[in-house]
Amino acid sequence: MKLIVNLKENSYPIYIERGIRKKAVKLIREVWNGKRIIIVSDDQVYEHYGEELLENLSQEFSCTRLVLPHGEGTKSFQNLPIIYDAMLKARLSRSDLLVALGGGVIGDLAGFAAATYLRGIPFVQIPTSLLAQVDSSVGGKVAVDLPQGKNLVGAFYQPKLVLIDPDVLDTLPERFLKDGMGEVIKYGCIKDAVLLEKLESLGSYGKLGREMEEIIYHCVDIKRKVVEEDQFDKGERMLLNFGHTLAHAIEQYFHYERESHGEAVAEGMYQVMRIAEQKGIAKSGIAAKIAHVLNMYGLPCESGIPVSELIKAICLDKKNLNNHLNLILLKNVGESYIYQTDTEFFDGIDKV
Ligand code: GLY
Repeated sequence: MKLIVNLKENSYPIYIERGIRKKAVKLIREVWNGKRIIIVSDDQVYEHYGEELLENLSQEFSCTRLVLPHGEGTKSFQNLPIIYDAMLKARLSRSDLLVALGGGVIGDLAGFAAATYLRGIPFVQIPTSLLAQVDSSVGGKVAVDLPQGKNLVGAFYQPKLVLIDPDVLDTLPERFLKDGMGEVIKYGCIKDAVLLEKLESLGSYGKLGREMEEIIYHCVDIKRKVVEEDQFDKGERMLLNFGHTLAHAIEQYFHYERESHGEAVAEGMYQVMRIAEQKGIAKSGIAAKIAHVLNMYGLPCESGIPVSELIKAICLDKKNLNNHLNLILLKNVGESYIYQTDTEFFDGIDKV
């Protein structure tokens, strides 16, 4: 299956297909005609898929690799010079290519390195986690973390090509699958009631397996349309942040050590709708429906954190400056909108 993200001169194809990673040489050739490639990956992903990719690409191109430790810590600003150094050692010029092989951390970090090295070189995303396949590899948000917070330095920099191979999810630990499922369920909630029904009728990871390619396609297609409409995140793209205001605060509260991003998004989606229903802003029943689907996929609905503890983090979030909150709410399942409010939205709420 193929999708094209239409962004004029920054347009690019996305392929979603089992085994597509093995066709990387041909597909890269279609979008780029240079000689030198650097593959950036992490140690866990590289162990499974790195050598195979390196061998394939080396048949046609001059390739080097940089394998970094896995984990969020790698997305640090401090790691950028390591990547620039490897690129310089490989004598990469502006017409050479970076291939990011990994989850969201590698995609964001390597993408940012590609965006900034020599003022930008082309890059290709080969996302290997469900979260990266349905979200972070598409749409060109690249970033690194600062000690003060996540994603505080970044850019909008679109890849030349995204290769999504659902086969690589077979080696993904279950917790990471759940992490991605939080975002998959989010797409159903904000834009696609049929997708949410489908997830509900399948009801387990076992049954999901056969449908995974199709489900990823639907999610990526939703993201593609949203990004085409609002590449720079000024309006429509904010809908992708459903559940994320609370999620970011919950993740921060536990120093990113308890909830995964997808688990925190699950809690954020349910809780924001529960509160909206309680306040008469949303019609009742939507939160319960979300909770039902989240439960089926082993995702939580409650963090148990007092709201008073989260308000500080919500106010510090770069998206909520001046006590102004753009909360994403649902009119119905599959129909989302931006609800402009402030922290008063959480008045009278004890825990989320
Ligand atoms: N992950 C949200 C976005 O790409 O806008």
